[in-house]
Formats: sequence, structure tokens, C-alpha cells
Amino acid sequence: MAQPLAEALRRTLTPPVLARGFVLVPGLFADLPDPGPTPRHWKEVDPERSAPLDVALALVAAALGRVFGWTNQQAGRSVHNILPSPEHSHEQVGASSTVPLVWHTEDAFHPERADLVILACVRNPDLIGTRLAGIRDAAVTDADLAQLGRPLLAIEPDDSYGAGASAGAVPVGMSTVWNGPTGRCVRYDPSYTRLMTDDARFVAAFRRLEGAFEACGRAVALAPGDLLILDNDTMVHGRAPFRARYDGGDRWLKRVLVRLPRTRPEPERREHGYHQDPVYPDAISRSEQCAPDHP
Ligand SMILES: [Fe+2]
Repeated sequence: MAQPLAEALRRTLTPPVLARGFVLVPGLFADLPDPGPTPRHWKEVDPERSAPLDVALALVAAALGRVFGWTNQQAGRSVHNILPSPEHSHEQVGASSTVPLVWHTEDAFHPERADLVILACVRNPDLIGTRLAGIRDAAVTDADLAQLGRPLLAIEPDDSYGAGASAGAVPVGMSTVWNGPTGRCVRYDPSYTRLMTDDARFVAAFRRLEGAFEACGRAVALAPGDLLILDNDTMVHGRAPFRARYDGGDRWLKRVLVRLPRTRPEPERREHGYHQDPVYPDAISRSEQCAPDHP
């Protein structure tokens, strides 16, 4: 990124106010060219028509933290395309439509998951709500919080990493809530959770957490050009179900993942992350710049 532009963006942007957990910037990208009809699969996105929005979103994200993707998710790209695909309509992934996308932390299975999840809206003609709930708003008793701090469940990679992404990996116990430097944090993805205990107090507390999110959650219907920044340690998110038409006019979001210089609980550093590898585009460009010339 050109240094003057990067500096100007840093002066203009601030990360989400952690106490609130998300920031909505209406219409930030509204003047950019339309990326074209919504394709039926992320692989069919026209990169040239998407370039202005993808670059603008990546610039904003890079001003907030370190942008990354995953080797096995959308081919390692830094800007993901969230749009309905017929073959995934019933799954718990961003490409679903006919089922509600239940409350979850993005990439909860991995210790290097994003600190910020950044979404930009291409179109959302039916005003499908992006659902948001904060662990700091959720009414959870002290007794349940004590249970949820016990590392008694394992969260596996979701279906967007391909079939069998968790095969061969030994499940590692994870905590659902913990106290970070700024307050309570959460790691939650019940659709891909394997409970490692039958302790009734723990299981009941875990089940009640969904109701606590449901009680305090809200929905934001993104409009074209809107930017939404979520704190992935304090907010869970989801999506209402909708009927995809696959006619080029369906809901389409762009997504970028960002790391901040934060620390998470020390036990997470020993997790294998199901051997899913993050891809840091700035590391690639640095190594390319340093690599010797090859014929
Ligand atoms: Fe998500």
C-alpha cells in the first residue's frame, strides 16, 4: 500500500469500540462500480469487476490490522465472497440460504482466528439481516460463566474448509468464555462443536448460552456499500434464512479477516488448529520481494 494512503487511512479509521463490539459505516463504498451480477459460486466472481471494491475493502482492513485468509478456504484469497450457492444451501456456511446461520464466532476452531471480521455489502435486495450478539450484553449467570470457562469442548473446522478437514486431528479442549484485557470474550460455534463431557451442569450452561444470545441479539440489514466491522472475540454473528433465486440478484457480501496485536489465553497457543494454515498476503509479498530471481 502506498505509504501516504496508508497513513491517511489510519488517521481516519479506528477499530471498533470494544464495549460495543461492532461498527457500521453506512454507504462507505456506495460510489464504487457495481461488481456485476451475483454469481452462483465464489469461483465465478469476475475479478476485474470486483477489483475496485475488493481493493478498497482490503485497504480499509489493512489500515486496521493484518489481513489474512486461509489456505483451504476460497483458495487462500484475502477477500472472500459470501453469496448463496445451491450446493451449500442447507449447510452452516456463508454460502447457505434456506437455513438460519446460527450464532457463531468466525473460524472458532482455530487459535489464529480473526480478531476483526469486516464485511462490505454488494447487494442485499431482500434486506436479509446479519445477526449480531455480544457476550458482554448476554445475560449469563456467574455459575454458567464458571462452567463455560472449563475447556470441555472441541470446535472443528466448518464445511467451508472441505469435507474431512478435522480428520486425523485429536480434539483439544477449548474454553467458551474467558476474560481478556478489556473484558469478557467468547469462542462459540455449536454447529461444529463436540462436547467432551456429559457433565450436566456444563452441558446445560452451554445450551443456555444460545438463549442468552437470542435474547440480546439484533439484526442489521446491510445495504449496498455498507461496511460492518465486528469484534470476533466479543461478538457472535449469524444470518436469517432466505430464499435464494440464483438469478444474479441475490445477496452478496465481501469479507476480510484481520488480526490485531492481541493475545488470547495461553492454552490456545498449544492448539493444532486442525492443521489449517493462515495465509498472510503481506508475508507473501515480502518474501517475493526478497526472493532471488528465477528464470
Ligand atoms: Fe460467519
